[in-house]
Amino acid sequence: MPRFSPDPRHRFRTNKGENGAVAWLQPHWSPPIALRLENKVAIVTGAGSSGPGWGNGKAAAVLFAREGASVLAVDVNEEAAAETASIIASEGGRCTVRIVDVTRADDVEAMAAACVDVYGRIDILHNNVGIIGLGGPVETSEQEWDRVNDVNLKSMFLTCKAVLPRMAAQGGGAIVNISSVAGIRHLGVDYVSYSVTKGAIIPFTRSVAMQYADRGIRANAILPGFMNTPMIVEPLRDAYGAGDVDRMIAVRDAMCPMGKMGDAWDVAYAALFLASDEAKYITGAELVVDGGLTCKTG
Ligand SMILES: NC(=O)c1ccc[n+]([C@@H]2O[C@H](COP(=O)([O-])OP(=O)(O)OC[C@H]3O[C@@H](n4cnc5c(N)ncnc54)[C@H](O)[C@@H]3O)[C@@H](O)[C@H]2O)c1
Repeated sequence: MPRFSPDPRHRFRTNKGENGAVAWLQPHWSPPIALRLENKVAIVTGAGSSGPGWGNGKAAAVLFAREGASVLAVDVNEEAAAETASIIASEGGRCTVRIVDVTRADDVEAMAAACVDVYGRIDILHNNVGIIGLGGPVETSEQEWDRVNDVNLKSMFLTCKAVLPRMAAQGGGAIVNISSVAGIRHLGVDYVSYSVTKGAIIPFTRSVAMQYADRGIRANAILPGFMNTPMIVEPLRDAYGAGDVDRMIAVRDAMCPMGKMGDAWDVAYAALFLASDEAKYITGAELVVDGGLTCKTG
C-alpha cells in the first residue's frame, strides 16, 4: 500500500519496499524548498494600504519579502508604507520605505536610483498604484479625469521610463502592471476614467513586453475582478451599497460566480508568479484574477 511521506526531504523520492513495490509516494509535486524570489530586488508601488486590512500592494510587498525579495516599498503615504515595512521586518524580511508620488517624474527617477543605491539592482517592478474616479464624461471633471489618468496610467509610463534602462543594463527583469477587469467589461458602475486607464494598461504592457523581449525583460498585466480590499470602501459604498459598506460587499459578493469577492492575496500570488522565474516564458500576457466574473459576463 503506497504511503505519503510527511518529510519534505522525501518529495522527489519514491522508496521501494523489499518486494520492489513503491513504499510511499509524494501526494503532489512541490518545488524544492527554495524561496521563489531569492536574491531578487522588487519595487512595489502603492505598497501601503488606503485603509485597515490588506490592500493588493501591501499583500504583494509582504509576499515578495516572504519569498526572499528585498523590497523597496513605495508609497505617497508614509504611515501606510511604514506599516507594510514593519510587517516585513517582523517576519525577518528586507524592506526599505521610499516616499514617492508616482505621478511625478523627478520622484520616480529618484526612486529607481535609490533602489539601485540601496540594493544594487532592480529585478521586479510591481506597478500597483491605482485610484477610482466615479462618473461618466459628464460627471467627471477635467481635473479628476487628469488625476486618474496621472495616477493610474502616467505613473506606469514614468516608472517604466526610469526602470527599463536599469533593467536592460543588468540584463533583464520582470514588470507586473495592475490593470482591472473594469478595463475590459462594464461592471455595473460608471467610472469612465478608471475603466479607460485600466484598459490602456493592457496595450501599454504589451508594447513594453514586445520592445524589451529580446533584452530579458518581461512585462505582464494582472486584471483583478471584484476584490474585497480597503480601496473599495470609500469610493464604492455609494455606487454599489447606497452608502452602506456591508450592503456594498453583499452586492459585489453576489455578482461573483464563486459567491464572494477575492482578496488581496489572490492578486499578490498572481503577481508573485509573474514576477518569479517560474514565469520566464510569459510576457505580454494578461492574467485575469476574478473568480470567473468575466467568464460569466463575457
Ligand atoms: N480592490 C479591487 O476590487 C480592485 C480590482 C481591480 C483592480 N484593483 C487595483 O488594485 C490596485 C490597488 O490596490 P490596493 O488594494 O493596493 O489599493 P490601496 O488603495 O489599498 O493602496 C494603494 C496605495 O497606493 C498609494 N498611492 C496612491 N496614490 C499614489 C501616488 N500617486 N504615489 C504613490 N503612492 C500612491 C496609497 O497611498 C495606498 O497606500 C489598483 O491599481 C486598483 O485599481 C483593485
